[in-house]
Amino acid sequence: MNKQSVDVSAPIGVFDSGVGGLTVLNEIHRHLPLENTIYLGDTARVPYGIRTPDTVKRYSLESGSFLFQLGIKLLVIACNTVSAISLDLISRRFPIPVIGVIAPGSKAAMNAPAYYNRVGVIGTETTIKSGAYKRQIHTLNSNTEVIEMACPLFVPLVEEGWFDGPIAEAITMEYLKNMAQIKIDALVLGCTHYPLLKRVIQTVVGNNTLLVDSAIETAKMVKGTLDNMGILNSNKATAALRKYYVTDGPERFIAIGKRFLTEPIKDVELIDINCLEIAPD
Ligand code: DGL
Repeated sequence: MNKQSVDVSAPIGVFDSGVGGLTVLNEIHRHLPLENTIYLGDTARVPYGIRTPDTVKRYSLESGSFLFQLGIKLLVIACNTVSAISLDLISRRFPIPVIGVIAPGSKAAMNAPAYYNRVGVIGTETTIKSGAYKRQIHTLNSNTEVIEMACPLFVPLVEEGWFDGPIAEAITMEYLKNMAQIKIDALVLGCTHYPLLKRVIQTVVGNNTLLVDSAIETAKMVKGTLDNMGILNSNKATAALRKYYVTDGPERFIAIGKRFLTEPIKDVELIDINCLEIAPD
Protein backbone atom coordinates (compact mmCIF):
# COMPACT_ATOMS: atom_id res chain seq x y z
CA MET A 1 0.00 0.00 0.00
CA ASN A 2 1.63 3.29 -0.96
CA LYS A 3 0.90 6.62 0.68
CA GLN A 4 0.01 8.39 -2.58
CA SER A 5 -2.89 6.05 -3.21
CA VAL A 6 -4.47 6.54 0.24
CA ASP A 7 -7.20 9.06 0.91
CA VAL A 8 -6.21 10.25 4.41
CA SER A 9 -9.82 11.09 5.24
CA ALA A 10 -10.86 7.47 4.54
CA PRO A 11 -12.23 5.86 7.69
CA ILE A 12 -10.62 3.40 10.06
CA GLY A 13 -12.67 0.19 10.17
CA VAL A 14 -13.13 -1.51 13.54
CA PHE A 15 -14.86 -4.82 14.03
CA ASP A 16 -15.88 -7.04 16.90
CA SER A 17 -18.27 -9.86 17.64
CA GLY A 18 -20.68 -7.38 19.25
CA VAL A 19 -20.62 -4.34 21.53
CA GLY A 20 -17.39 -5.11 23.40
CA GLY A 21 -15.13 -3.64 20.71
CA LEU A 22 -16.56 -0.24 21.58
CA THR A 23 -13.97 -0.16 24.41
CA VAL A 24 -11.32 -0.16 21.66
CA LEU A 25 -13.24 2.34 19.51
CA ASN A 26 -13.52 4.63 22.54
CA GLU A 27 -9.74 4.74 22.87
CA ILE A 28 -9.31 5.26 19.12
CA HIS A 29 -11.64 8.27 19.32
CA ARG A 30 -9.74 9.56 22.36
CA HIS A 31 -6.29 9.19 20.77
CA LEU A 32 -7.34 10.10 17.22
CA PRO A 33 -10.29 12.52 17.42
CA LEU A 34 -9.91 13.62 13.79
CA GLU A 35 -10.15 10.14 12.30
CA ASN A 36 -13.38 8.96 10.69
CA THR A 37 -14.48 5.57 11.96
CA ILE A 38 -16.80 2.76 10.91
CA TYR A 39 -17.62 0.08 13.47
CA LEU A 40 -19.11 -3.32 12.75
CA GLY A 41 -20.56 -5.45 15.56
CA ASP A 42 -21.61 -8.96 14.53
CA THR A 43 -24.40 -8.94 17.10
CA ALA A 44 -26.33 -11.74 15.36
CA ARG A 45 -23.56 -14.26 16.04
CA VAL A 46 -22.02 -13.05 19.31
CA PRO A 47 -20.42 -14.60 21.37
CA TYR A 48 -17.39 -15.73 19.35
CA GLY A 49 -15.50 -16.72 22.49
CA ILE A 50 -17.09 -20.18 22.62
CA ARG A 51 -16.85 -20.93 18.86
CA THR A 52 -14.32 -23.17 17.11
CA PRO A 53 -11.40 -21.54 15.25
CA ASP A 54 -12.89 -22.48 11.85
CA THR A 55 -16.13 -20.68 12.64
CA VAL A 56 -14.31 -17.62 14.00
CA LYS A 57 -12.24 -17.51 10.79
CA ARG A 58 -15.31 -17.66 8.59
CA TYR A 59 -17.15 -14.97 10.55
CA SER A 60 -14.14 -12.69 10.65
CA LEU A 61 -13.49 -12.95 6.90
CA GLU A 62 -17.08 -11.84 6.34
CA SER A 63 -16.75 -8.87 8.70
CA GLY A 64 -13.37 -7.88 7.28
CA SER A 65 -14.68 -8.08 3.70
CA PHE A 66 -17.69 -5.95 4.55
CA LEU A 67 -15.54 -3.17 5.99
CA PHE A 68 -12.87 -3.42 3.30
CA GLN A 69 -15.34 -2.82 0.48
CA LEU A 70 -16.35 0.44 2.21
CA GLY A 71 -12.90 1.88 1.45
CA ILE A 72 -11.27 1.90 4.88
CA LYS A 73 -7.58 2.84 5.16
CA LEU A 74 -6.79 0.60 8.15
CA LEU A 75 -8.60 -2.28 9.86
CA VAL A 76 -8.67 -2.85 13.61
CA ILE A 77 -9.68 -6.24 14.94
CA ALA A 78 -11.04 -5.12 18.30
CA CYS A 79 -12.11 -8.62 19.31
CA ASN A 80 -9.49 -10.61 21.24
CA THR A 81 -10.95 -13.92 20.06
CA VAL A 82 -10.71 -12.89 16.39
CA SER A 83 -7.24 -11.41 16.91
CA ALA A 84 -6.13 -14.70 18.49
CA ILE A 85 -7.50 -16.85 15.68
CA SER A 86 -7.64 -14.81 12.47
CA LEU A 87 -5.06 -11.99 12.51
CA ASP A 88 -2.76 -13.68 9.98
CA LEU A 89 -5.64 -14.73 7.75
CA ILE A 90 -7.16 -11.22 7.68
CA SER A 91 -3.77 -9.54 7.21
CA ARG A 92 -3.02 -11.74 4.20
CA ARG A 93 -6.44 -11.19 2.68
CA PHE A 94 -6.64 -7.38 2.60
CA PRO A 95 -4.03 -4.95 1.21
CA ILE A 96 -4.31 -2.46 4.08
CA PRO A 97 -2.70 -2.43 7.54
CA VAL A 98 -4.51 -4.74 9.96
CA ILE A 99 -4.05 -4.32 13.72
CA GLY A 100 -5.21 -6.82 16.32
CA VAL A 101 -5.22 -6.48 20.10
CA ILE A 102 -2.86 -9.32 21.10
CA ALA A 103 0.50 -7.71 20.20
CA PRO A 104 -0.21 -4.32 21.82
CA GLY A 105 -1.60 -5.94 24.99
CA SER A 106 1.35 -8.32 25.30
CA LYS A 107 3.85 -5.51 24.80
CA ALA A 108 2.22 -3.41 27.52
CA ALA A 109 2.33 -6.34 29.95
CA MET A 110 6.10 -6.40 29.60
CA ASN A 111 6.27 -2.81 30.88
CA ALA A 112 5.40 -3.97 34.40
CA PRO A 113 8.38 -4.31 36.75
CA ALA A 114 9.29 -8.02 36.78
CA TYR A 115 9.32 -8.94 40.49
CA TYR A 116 7.92 -12.42 39.97
CA ASN A 117 8.55 -12.78 36.21
CA ARG A 118 4.97 -13.94 35.93
CA VAL A 119 2.16 -12.52 33.79
CA GLY A 120 -1.50 -13.50 33.90
CA VAL A 121 -3.79 -13.50 30.87
CA ILE A 122 -7.56 -13.74 31.03
CA GLY A 123 -9.92 -14.05 28.07
CA THR A 124 -12.62 -16.12 26.43
CA GLU A 125 -12.33 -19.90 26.14
CA THR A 126 -11.28 -19.72 22.48
CA THR A 127 -8.67 -17.00 23.11
CA ILE A 128 -7.11 -18.90 25.99
CA LYS A 129 -7.20 -22.24 24.15
CA SER A 130 -5.41 -20.64 21.17
CA GLY A 131 -2.38 -19.78 23.32
CA ALA A 132 -1.95 -16.61 21.21
CA TYR A 133 -1.12 -14.31 24.15
CA LYS A 134 1.34 -16.81 25.60
CA ARG A 135 3.14 -17.15 22.25
CA GLN A 136 3.28 -13.39 21.79
CA ILE A 137 4.57 -12.75 25.33
CA HIS A 138 7.22 -15.43 24.84
CA THR A 139 8.47 -13.74 21.67
CA LEU A 140 9.12 -10.68 23.89
CA ASN A 141 10.61 -12.58 26.83
CA SER A 142 10.87 -16.35 26.77
CA ASN A 143 11.57 -16.45 30.53
CA THR A 144 8.24 -14.94 31.54
CA GLU A 145 5.88 -17.45 33.05
CA VAL A 146 2.40 -16.98 31.57
CA ILE A 147 -0.63 -18.11 33.55
CA GLU A 148 -3.85 -18.18 31.59
CA MET A 149 -7.46 -18.38 32.67
CA ALA A 150 -10.70 -18.36 30.70
CA CYS A 151 -13.37 -16.26 32.45
CA PRO A 152 -16.53 -16.90 30.40
CA LEU A 153 -18.93 -15.41 32.95
CA PHE A 154 -17.34 -11.97 32.70
CA VAL A 155 -18.94 -11.17 29.31
CA PRO A 156 -22.59 -11.62 30.39
CA LEU A 157 -21.79 -9.97 33.73
CA VAL A 158 -20.61 -6.80 31.99
CA GLU A 159 -23.47 -6.81 29.48
CA GLU A 160 -25.83 -6.99 32.46
CA GLY A 161 -24.11 -3.90 33.91
CA TRP A 162 -22.89 -5.70 37.04
CA PHE A 163 -19.43 -4.14 37.24
CA ASP A 164 -19.20 -4.40 41.02
CA GLY A 165 -21.15 -5.67 44.02
CA PRO A 166 -21.23 -9.12 45.61
CA ILE A 167 -21.92 -11.16 42.46
CA ALA A 168 -19.10 -9.57 40.45
CA GLU A 169 -16.77 -9.93 43.44
CA ALA A 170 -17.62 -13.60 44.02
CA ILE A 171 -17.15 -14.56 40.35
CA THR A 172 -13.90 -12.60 40.08
CA MET A 173 -12.57 -14.19 43.26
CA GLU A 174 -13.41 -17.65 41.98
CA TYR A 175 -11.58 -17.11 38.68
CA LEU A 176 -8.59 -15.16 39.97
CA LYS A 177 -7.88 -16.45 43.46
CA ASN A 178 -5.03 -18.62 42.21
CA MET A 179 -3.34 -15.72 40.41
CA ALA A 180 -3.83 -13.52 43.47
CA GLN A 181 -2.16 -16.15 45.63
CA ILE A 182 0.88 -16.93 43.50
CA LYS A 183 1.36 -13.23 42.61
CA ILE A 184 1.73 -11.86 39.10
CA ASP A 185 3.45 -8.70 37.82
CA ALA A 186 0.78 -7.90 35.25
CA LEU A 187 -2.63 -9.17 34.23
CA VAL A 188 -3.69 -8.79 30.60
CA LEU A 189 -7.42 -8.10 30.30
CA GLY A 190 -7.61 -10.15 27.11
CA CYS A 191 -11.24 -9.59 26.23
CA THR A 192 -13.09 -6.48 25.09
CA HIS A 193 -15.44 -6.54 28.07
CA TYR A 194 -12.98 -6.97 30.91
CA PRO A 195 -11.76 -3.35 31.24
CA LEU A 196 -15.20 -2.54 32.67
CA LEU A 197 -14.44 -4.88 35.58
CA LYS A 198 -11.08 -3.25 36.32
CA ARG A 199 -12.00 -2.07 39.81
CA VAL A 200 -13.15 -5.43 41.12
CA ILE A 201 -10.31 -7.28 39.36
CA GLN A 202 -7.73 -4.94 40.87
CA THR A 203 -9.18 -5.52 44.32
CA VAL A 204 -8.89 -9.28 43.92
CA VAL A 205 -5.37 -9.45 42.42
CA GLY A 206 -3.99 -6.63 44.56
CA ASN A 207 -2.59 -3.20 43.80
CA ASN A 208 0.89 -4.47 42.95
CA THR A 209 -0.36 -6.14 39.77
CA LEU A 210 -0.48 -3.93 36.66
CA LEU A 211 -3.78 -4.35 34.82
CA VAL A 212 -3.25 -4.15 31.07
CA ASP A 213 -6.10 -2.77 29.01
CA SER A 214 -5.36 -3.80 25.41
CA ALA A 215 -7.76 -1.12 24.14
CA ILE A 216 -5.46 1.77 25.11
CA GLU A 217 -2.37 0.08 23.70
CA THR A 218 -4.16 -0.80 20.48
CA ALA A 219 -5.26 2.80 19.94
CA LYS A 220 -1.64 3.92 20.42
CA MET A 221 -0.51 1.36 17.85
CA VAL A 222 -3.15 2.56 15.37
CA LYS A 223 -1.91 6.13 15.82
CA GLY A 224 1.74 5.08 15.41
CA THR A 225 0.98 3.07 12.27
CA LEU A 226 -0.97 5.88 10.56
CA ASP A 227 1.70 8.37 11.55
CA ASN A 228 4.55 6.20 10.19
CA MET A 229 2.69 5.76 6.93
CA GLY A 230 1.96 9.51 6.74
CA ILE A 231 -1.80 8.92 6.49
CA LEU A 232 -3.14 10.54 9.68
CA ASN A 233 -6.12 12.78 9.02
CA SER A 234 -5.38 16.29 10.21
CA ASN A 235 -8.20 18.09 8.45
CA LYS A 236 -11.02 18.98 10.84
CA ALA A 237 -13.37 19.66 7.93
CA THR A 238 -13.28 16.00 6.84
CA ALA A 239 -13.58 14.46 10.32
CA ALA A 240 -17.19 13.79 11.09
CA LEU A 241 -17.98 10.15 10.41
CA ARG A 242 -19.01 7.92 13.31
CA LYS A 243 -20.87 5.11 11.59
CA TYR A 244 -22.04 1.83 13.14
CA TYR A 245 -23.24 -1.37 11.49
CA VAL A 246 -24.74 -4.34 13.31
CA THR A 247 -26.01 -7.71 12.14
CA ASP A 248 -28.89 -7.82 14.64
CA GLY A 249 -30.77 -5.68 17.18
CA PRO A 250 -29.66 -2.05 16.71
CA GLU A 251 -31.73 -0.97 19.75
CA ARG A 252 -29.98 -3.43 22.06
CA PHE A 253 -26.62 -2.41 20.59
CA ILE A 254 -27.34 1.24 21.45
CA ALA A 255 -28.65 0.40 24.93
CA ILE A 256 -25.74 -1.87 25.93
CA GLY A 257 -23.20 0.11 23.92
CA LYS A 258 -23.73 3.09 26.23
CA ARG A 259 -21.79 1.20 28.90
CA PHE A 260 -18.78 0.89 26.60
CA LEU A 261 -18.67 4.14 24.67
CA THR A 262 -18.57 7.57 26.26
CA GLU A 263 -20.10 9.37 23.28
CA PRO A 264 -23.66 8.84 21.98
CA ILE A 265 -24.18 6.10 19.38
CA LYS A 266 -26.33 7.65 16.67
CA ASP A 267 -25.92 6.33 13.15
CA VAL A 268 -26.58 2.56 13.46
CA GLU A 269 -27.55 0.46 10.44
CA LEU A 270 -28.68 -3.15 10.34
CA ILE A 271 -26.90 -5.27 7.70
CA ASP A 272 -26.73 -8.87 6.51
CA ILE A 273 -23.18 -10.14 6.00
CA ASN A 274 -24.16 -13.77 5.43
CA CYS A 275 -24.98 -12.97 1.83
CA LEU A 276 -21.47 -11.74 0.95
CA GLU A 277 -19.58 -13.86 -1.57
CA ILE A 278 -16.36 -14.73 0.27
CA ALA A 279 -13.67 -16.86 -1.27
CA PRO A 280 -12.51 -19.49 1.26
CA ASP A 281 -8.94 -19.28 2.52
N1 DGL B 1 -15.25 -9.62 21.87
C1 DGL B 1 -14.92 -10.89 22.46
C2 DGL B 1 -13.42 -10.90 22.82
O1 DGL B 1 -12.80 -9.87 23.02
C3 DGL B 1 -15.79 -11.17 23.68
C4 DGL B 1 -17.23 -11.50 23.36
C5 DGL B 1 -17.37 -12.78 22.55
O2 DGL B 1 -17.16 -13.86 23.07
O3 DGL B 1 -17.71 -12.66 21.38
O4 DGL B 1 -12.84 -11.95 22.88
